[in-house]
Amino acid sequence: MKKNATFDIPEGQYYLCGHSLGPASKQAVASLQQGLQGWQQDKVKGWSTQFWLDLPEKLGKALAPLLGAHSDEEIVADSTSVNLLKCLLTALTINHNRKIILTENDNFPADRYIAHSLSAIDENITLKSVTAPELVDALDDSVAVLMLTHVNYRNASQHDMAMLTQKAHALGVIVVWDLSHSVGAMPLHCSLLGVDFAVGCTYKYVNGGPGSPGFIYVARKHHNQTPVIKGWMGHISPFAFAQVYQKAAGIKAYLTGTPSILSLKALEGALAVFRDVDLEQLREKSMVLSQQLIDNIDSCVPQLTLVSSRDPRARGSHVAYSHPFADKIVTDLIANGVIVDYRAPDLIRFGIAPLYIDGHDIEKAVQILVKSMC
Ligand SMILES: Cc1ncc(COP(=O)(O)O)c(C=O)c1O
Repeated sequence: MKKNATFDIPEGQYYLCGHSLGPASKQAVASLQQGLQGWQQDKVKGWSTQFWLDLPEKLGKALAPLLGAHSDEEIVADSTSVNLLKCLLTALTINHNRKIILTENDNFPADRYIAHSLSAIDENITLKSVTAPELVDALDDSVAVLMLTHVNYRNASQHDMAMLTQKAHALGVIVVWDLSHSVGAMPLHCSLLGVDFAVGCTYKYVNGGPGSPGFIYVARKHHNQTPVIKGWMGHISPFAFAQVYQKAAGIKAYLTGTPSILSLKALEGALAVFRDVDLEQLREKSMVLSQQLIDNIDSCVPQLTLVSSRDPRARGSHVAYSHPFADKIVTDLIANGVIVDYRAPDLIRFGIAPLYIDGHDIEKAVQILVKSMC
């Protein structure tokens, strides 16, 4: 039996892993099935009869409220890593007299790899890495780009996006935010804050499905800039197959190759769920549930060490604990229906996504945790 009208989670399972892969909603499954039918029936004609090529932009518009952005500032395409590369290259072109990308030591490794790989194109480009508290002092007018992940994938610590964006801008630094662990979990305000670029995953709190495409947000003020990666789908007229590149207007210029239609169809359904969601309330509920988890673990499982902040506003939507036998604990929890994950060497991450978990899930998860610690 299913315990939630929207999501496919069986009775007896406590799904605390939305920070990694969100579950399937009925809407996502229905939309994916519709995509499959369109392919079966229409085959190549589907490109026109099913309006597949409209999906990246259409889903960008559907994602806009989640990013707090204008509806023409984001598009769904490629992976987060590839989108990050596109943003960094364009940002470095805008700030072409500067060569430093500033980040924090604990940024997501994939983001650091991408930034490092730019040195292969231009050996003067360097990735400068400092601790989170050192970021403000490390910002100066030699920095081209500030590249940060809003919510840390390990301890869920959350940067002050408004403050850092403002400090960076005051020094002429372009900001690129990775919102992978924020989007769909809390309200965001990209346009209001004047964020230059942002990227992120849609398979975590947006529940788009395994490997669902990433998004790229580019502020209107940069839409005239020609992207460094000139994809044929970002051409003003892709099917003219012109020898000379001419960029499409606006955010479409950030498309590269053929979109992953079936993944986009699943994501289309997943995003429909958010039409009725108040992100302020969602975030509020996530903080209440996280507090319940922390209180219960404080009193029942003191062997675990909280590595996330106790201040809910300084955290994202997961809560992380450390324990020397974290991998064994996670294996036991999963075997008993509590789906969490492990990050080496000693972290247990509990994802709190109130679209499909409630106080009962937290209570049961902690009861099962207590048993597995005995
Ligand atoms: C914060 C963050 N950035 C980037 C990525 C990489 O995303 P992708 O593999 O879709 O490129 C991930 C993946 O989990 C992530 O958590």
